[in-house]
Parts: sequence; C-alpha cells; structure tokens
Amino acid sequence: DKGNHRHFMAKEIYEQPIVVAQTLRAYLQRLEDKVTLPIPDFDLSVIKRVTIVACGTSYYAGMVAKYWFEQFARVAVDIDVASEFRYRAPVMEDGGLMIVISQSGETADTLAALRHAKAEGQTIAAVVNVPTSTMAREADLLLPTHAGPEIGVASTKAFTCQLAVLAALAANLAKAKGRMTPEEEKAIVAHLAEAPAALNDALGRDEAIEAMAGAVAGARDVLYLGRGTDYPLALEGALKLKEISYIHAEGYAAGEMKHGPIALIDEHVPVIVIAPSGPLFEKTVSNMQEVQARGGKVVLISDAEGIAAAGEGCIATIEMPKAHPLIAPIVYAVPVQLLAYHVAVAKGTDVDQPRNLAKSVTVE
Ligand code: M6R
Repeated sequence: DKGNHRHFMAKEIYEQPIVVAQTLRAYLQRLEDKVTLPIPDFDLSVIKRVTIVACGTSYYAGMVAKYWFEQFARVAVDIDVASEFRYRAPVMEDGGLMIVISQSGETADTLAALRHAKAEGQTIAAVVNVPTSTMAREADLLLPTHAGPEIGVASTKAFTCQLAVLAALAANLAKAKGRMTPEEEKAIVAHLAEAPAALNDALGRDEAIEAMAGAVAGARDVLYLGRGTDYPLALEGALKLKEISYIHAEGYAAGEMKHGPIALIDEHVPVIVIAPSGPLFEKTVSNMQEVQARGGKVVLISDAEGIAAAGEGCIATIEMPKAHPLIAPIVYAVPVQLLAYHVAVAKGTDVDQPRNLAKSVTVE
C-alpha cells in the first residue's frame, strides 16, 4: 500500500522520521541518557579492529560509520564492498569484529563475506532490516534496523536506519573502550534523539527540491561532491540518481576533483555539492568555487549559514535545517533521495522498479 504517495519510494522517504525514531528507541535509553545495544551479554571492549562489508547503499552507510568508529572509539576500521572483500586476502586478526550491513540480509556477496570471516574466527555483527534473513541467523550479534518492509528498489529508509544503528554502535564501542564520559554519552543521546525532527524538517524542503529538479533532469552527467561523511553521501546521491533516473552520475571526494574529474566540468554538468556549515565547509566551498570558475552549474545543499556564506553564484540551493555533525549524514540523506526521486518522476522512469535491477541481489 503506497498510502497517498505515487510510489513506494516516496512513501518510504516520508516514513523516515518515524522509522528512525522506532530504530533509535531500541538503542537509546533516553531517561537514563544512555546508548545501549540489544546484545547486553557481549563485551565490546575486546574488539581490536573492525571490518565493514556491504554492497550498494548499505556500503555507503558503512563508509559513514567508519568515520564514527575511528573518531569516537579510536578503533581502526577496514571497509570493503563485499564482492571485493574475499579476493584480496584480507588480514583478519583475532579479536576482530566484522560488521555486515544489509537491508535484505540476503545479498549473496555480503553473505559470502560473512561466511568467510566467520570461518576465519571473526565475531560477526549483522545490521539487517529483515530479522528472519540468512545474515540475521548466521551472525553472532544481531543489530536490527526497524525500518519496516522496504519495497522500492532504491534503498532509502533502510539507509537512514542503518546510520542510526551504526552511530549507536560506535558510541557503545567508545564507551566500552573507556573513550566516552557520561557527559559525552548524554550529548550523543541528545543529538541522536533530534534526528527524527530534523528529518521532518528536511522533508519540508520537498516542494523546493521538486521545483529545481528540472535543472538536473535534462543533464547527461551529474557530479556529486562532499568531504568527510558527506563524501559517502555524495556517492549515495549519485547511486540514487543513476539507478532510478538513468542519468550518469558520479560521487567524488570534493578534494579529489582537481586530480582529474574537473576536466569534465562545463556548463552542461550540474554539480551537487553537499556541504553543511562546520569545520570542513571552507575547504569544500573552495573546491566548489573551482567548479564555478570553469562554468559548472552548482547546486549547494547546506544549512542557512552555509547558503548565506556561499550560495551566491549557485544555480540552486537546498536549505537544510541546522544539524549536529553526528546526525547530519542522516538528515542530508533526504535531499539527495528527493532530488533523485523528482528527477526520475520528471523523466517518467519506473521509479520503484528501475530497469535491470532487483531489490535483493542473490547471485555473486
Ligand atoms: O539488501 P542490501 O542492503 O544488502 O542490498 C545492497 C544493495 O543491493 C542495495 O543497497 C542497492 O545498491 C540499492 N538498490 C541502492 O538503492
């Protein structure tokens, strides 16, 4: 049932404030200002190293999580797409935690990586949305997302719920490693608890995004740029756009532009820049200006402060609510999802069932 939406994808984008709140309820003890995991008997302090393996959008959630694990818990993280993981003789030391991330819990490459790592003695944690899935059954530790069934082939609400679980896991790991004071934990709980309302605010930009989608719908190629945790979001934005609108899109680390891709820039290539105000903002903006100096048409996704500072000269801006850096990746997922959605609708493609794609990829 699509409710009053035209497509499952739209319905699922709009469900995010509710399902992220639902997911967070399983990981936050708000009254006690504590982050917890639904695996109370497992001692996270023994974890020496983390390996993350996933595919597609779930892989991008893992890329965001790498920043969090390293920043909060100071635990080294290795991350790979599942289809590559087994073919590079990965070094898996004792005391390693492998995290598989999967909406379906059935993706063949991810499952094969799970089995390989398990045979090598790694502890396996599965962040999955389908609790009865094969990965959920085979993992040692189950960390469910509570996104509810996701029907649209383009993953949306599963992604933001994965981020919520991974943020909670990073905080728990930091706590187990003695790297988080009760005050810091309290602050993290408060920031995460703000995510559902911030998602709601972000959804309030839907009409504005729909109105500017035409600027992208006519393009042959689109670039997405971001730095830090906005880099995986740039990759996710490009994946969403290409899979449902069939426009060629690429995500790039903003600083990597001048090492090659800038040669592609001309007035026909829209460049979507994801840059919330904050410590990385200036650097990303200078990359954005390099694009503008070559005639590139920039769409800036930022907050009011960022847009006031750098919105001039952009062909469009998408204003997000001010979000704490911890929840910014969750909140900024919304505009990239909505942009892809409206471009696809404008192009008349089959949004929920894009050509050549299956919801669950069960062949390696
Ligand atoms: O079920 P999974 O999360 O393991 O699926 C992984 C990818 O196949 C999936 O995220 C795919 O990239 C989506 N179509 C992206 O929207």
